Amino acid sequence: MTHPQTPPAVTLSQDELKTQVGHAALRYVIAGEIVGVGTGSTVNKFIDALAGIKDQIKGAVSSSVASTERLQALGITVFDSNDVAELSVYIDGADEIDHQGYMVKGGGAALTREKIVAAQSRQFVCIADESKLVQTLGKYPLPVEVIPMAVQRIKRLFEAMGAQAKLRLKGDAPLMTDNGQHILDVTGLNITDPLAFETQVSQWPGVVTVGVFAHQKAQVCLLGTASGVKTLTF
Ligand code: 5RP
Repeated sequence: MTHPQTPPAVTLSQDELKTQVGHAALRYVIAGEIVGVGTGSTVNKFIDALAGIKDQIKGAVSSSVASTERLQALGITVFDSNDVAELSVYIDGADEIDHQGYMVKGGGAALTREKIVAAQSRQFVCIADESKLVQTLGKYPLPVEVIPMAVQRIKRLFEAMGAQAKLRLKGDAPLMTDNGQHILDVTGLNITDPLAFETQVSQWPGVVTVGVFAHQKAQVCLLGTASGVKTLTF
């Protein structure tokens, strides 16, 4: 009697999972249009894949200097966000995504421009490996972009919530974002109501952008898993 062959289990690295979802995102790109492009190592895989179909699109609106440089180096035209009224789709990664499509973003310090491009897009497609899927947001240190003169006051406001905020450094100096501001990384949070949390923190004077993306949540998540790309819709 012959036994059916069981294929050997394939363990994909996190980098390979990112490549998978970066390629899978191409099916959301609309020919002849401008696509919104996020920032980060997963998006870099998407940008590299996008280069393969660059003649079929008009170009991109980018969410960071880093992504702009990568897009342009691959021959993709980058438009100023001010020159484009609306985008059909924005493709970006996340540091955490929950089962409602709410996200924590900003690990790459690009959260402000990411939120702007997400807001001008009709659909947010999140690309992430399965390690990013969580029940409740808050384990990953929450990035908050702040105006330098407000750093200490905002730190105290988070402390009053029982959290700890740490100024992100680059080398020995505070990291400067593309917008010339600083980043606080906040630990000790359990964000059970992302919409209310985003609304509350966004109103603190000196906060430029909080890295909770609830008002600009994802409608789709392409999740890289050991058994292939899963599509979650919210
Ligand atoms: C950058 C971001 C990224 O989307 C997020 O940090 C995920 O990055 P990666 O794909 O490298 O894991 O929000 O500001």
